[in-house]
Amino acid sequence: MKMNIVDQYGPVAKDISEIIISEDDIRQRVAQLGRDISIDYADRCPVLVGVLKGVLFLMADLLRVINIPVEVDFLAVSSYSAEARNKGVVRLVKDLEIPIYGRHVLFVEDVIDTGLTLNYLLRSLRERQPASLEVCVLFNKPAHRLLDIPLTYKGFDLPDRLVVGYGLDFRERYRNLPFVGLLSAEAVKEDSHLEERLEKNTPGSI
Ligand code: IMP
Ligand code: MG
Repeated sequence: MKMNIVDQYGPVAKDISEIIISEDDIRQRVAQLGRDISIDYADRCPVLVGVLKGVLFLMADLLRVINIPVEVDFLAVSSYSAEARNKGVVRLVKDLEIPIYGRHVLFVEDVIDTGLTLNYLLRSLRERQPASLEVCVLFNKPAHRLLDIPLTYKGFDLPDRLVVGYGLDFRERYRNLPFVGLLSAEAVKEDSHLEERLEKNTPGSI
């Protein structure tokens, strides 16, 4: 008998209409990325930089499969107004602790959509003059890309849909799903006045 998603993954999965990338597919792809990174960065001790909170799962799993010395650091950002958000301008609420001047930096990001956020953060890192700066993105949503950002390491191309799980949230929920899935239309519509408030000016996390 086929198990339904809630039987298998618990109550957190009740609003999921479809699993689009399974745990297994993610594990295999991340393992491959880890192998590639280990080869490319051998003897360079790169600094892996991630943006909280969406990158939590990816960073932890990637670190486990990278077998060369690396250092890890995190940024935390918060979006300003909807207008600022549309330009990709974010406020740094936590900066790096490791100085990256002269270091090989690998920016690890869970998802890239328009590319505005990533572009803004890369610019800010570039000002600190790292020896190199490359990007590793697990989920690429090319449909709305506004800026051409070279992705040295890329996991999966995703359709132009809101997805959750494996660190990605919808209103801070669903990050703890081990797969990537689509939310049912009812779950997205629920409490839609909240969405309007968010669009106006409430700061949010990435
Ligand atoms: P950007 O459009 O490339 O600037 O993406 C901005 C941010 O939106 C990402 O860092 C994610 O935090 C978030 N984001 C984009 N697409 C999704 C999604 O499908 N699910 C959850 N968060 C997303
Ligand atoms: Mg992110």
